[in-house]
Amino acid sequence: MERVGMHYSERHQDLKGFEDAVKDVADTVLSSSHVTIVGHVDADGISGASIASIALERAGIPYDIRFIKKLDDAEIAAINTRRSDTSWLVDLGSGSYSKFTADRVCVSDHHLPEKDAKAKGRSGQADLLSYAEHHANPHIFGIDGSTEISGAGVAYLVAKAIDARNVDMAPIAVVGAVGDFQDSAECRLKGLNRQVLEDAVEEGKMAAIKDLRVFGRETRPVAKMLQFSTDPLLPGLTNDAVACQRFLMDLGVPLTEGEKWRCWVDLTEVEKRSVASAVCEHLLKSGSGHWACKRLIGEVYVLKQERFGTELHDAKEYSTLLNACGRYGEGMVGLRICAGDRGEMLEKGLNLQRNHRGNLADAVGLVKDLGVERGRFLQHFHGRTEILDSIVGIVAGMVLGSGEVPSDVPIVAFAYSEDEKVKVSARATRELVQKGIDLAVAVKAASEKVGGTGGGHNIAAGATISIGREGAFLEEMEKLIETQLSGNINA
Ligand code: C5P
Ligand code: C5P
Ligand code: ZN
Repeated sequence: MERVGMHYSERHQDLKGFEDAVKDVADTVLSSSHVTIVGHVDADGISGASIASIALERAGIPYDIRFIKKLDDAEIAAINTRRSDTSWLVDLGSGSYSKFTADRVCVSDHHLPEKDAKAKGRSGQADLLSYAEHHANPHIFGIDGSTEISGAGVAYLVAKAIDARNVDMAPIAVVGAVGDFQDSAECRLKGLNRQVLEDAVEEGKMAAIKDLRVFGRETRPVAKMLQFSTDPLLPGLTNDAVACQRFLMDLGVPLTEGEKWRCWVDLTEVEKRSVASAVCEHLLKSGSGHWACKRLIGEVYVLKQERFGTELHDAKEYSTLLNACGRYGEGMVGLRICAGDRGEMLEKGLNLQRNHRGNLADAVGLVKDLGVERGRFLQHFHGRTEILDSIVGIVAGMVLGSGEVPSDVPIVAFAYSEDEKVKVSARATRELVQKGIDLAVAVKAASEKVGGTGGGHNIAAGATISIGREGAFLEEMEKLIETQLSGNINA
């Protein structure tokens, strides 16, 4: 099994403790007269905030919602001086927990908490329970928040503790988990995510099926789906439109049906089997090895109540749609889609997604032109003002997975943000995490060393630093990654 959550996985899992923390958040929220939900702008944060808002709506508790990119000092000050009596932070907050001075700040998050936060708990006591006051984060209880439960998952558990009927929102929590790549390590959801999935399946709202894991099963023409596959990378097919079309035609799989391009879900079972085994054979022949074949097939999650052949029918595609809303400051559009709007908001979301796709393609092209600079234990690029800070992390992940740069060291990406700072995004691979790399720890330490802030997960982390500090940040990162690889993680 993959070695993840290095600092927590060795600890005993305290599920009961986590459950109590979830209940504490639920009770606090339930006894509120007005709640401000503060959600993170990505797919997981939007799914989580929509679950939180529906739970409050059903409980008859007035609320308002804000989506934010990051918890900076201004946001923390806003939370500490807010007007409503309770704040409910979704998919963020754990990294800054000790900075909340107001009462009734509820945090449901899955990011790595502050290292020494236990000692700095609000009540000033060093015990875990006082630290866990209104703070539901799996990491605190020895559960790996990078793979076993997402921000939306934690919000869902809180919602379920508020009212058992909220179990009907389980599929949205699965969308959040998949949006944060929590199914990626084992090609299926695991840990507490499986319980969320079971709720969704039992409700009759979701199916977990074994299928091709390549993105775009429902809405991308099959040849395009293969062309854009990066997990696994299909040598000779990825990035080559003509080769993909020929590959399918050689197998006798028609690309179109009348006027319409056929998507993966339109293929017959026989055609699907034939394409899957041909791709597998192709992978083995191209030397990608058995493990790439294994990543080809896995669990995919279908939202049974959504229309077949649409972005909302497949959890992964759904999450990408939400991401496309959040990353352009339209988190509320995503939230309305989660809440069931299939009219104007869905239309708006789909437009944002088209725009997002174009931006990503442009950004990846730009990085190709710029080149990625290789250091000893890292590689990096700088998007400056050319790549939006809100998507530079996604771009970094795409570049690292593209097969066009080495994947034996993590990638660090920079872009200027609107507030005249530098947004940093770092991405690693599962193999690097297995070797001991924890980007959350490294990015947090390196950014703090240069006067910034950061955090995240072992495989994906981010930070904000001042303009001009990029070189110093990289130097720190080089040292930290070297130390992590040498196995001396506490040095
Ligand atoms: O803020 P949050 O924890 O929700 O973001 C997690 C991010 O990590 C995802 O948006 C995704 O871009 C990135 N990630 C990744 N590869 C993984 C796991 C996560 O790129 N295997
Ligand atoms: O922004 P990006 O996609 O690179 O973020 C990767 C991970 O790092 C996310 O989980 C995000 O919440 C986290 N992050 C953070 N502090 C920042 C920026 C990102 O904890 N300043
Ligand atoms: Zn998340």
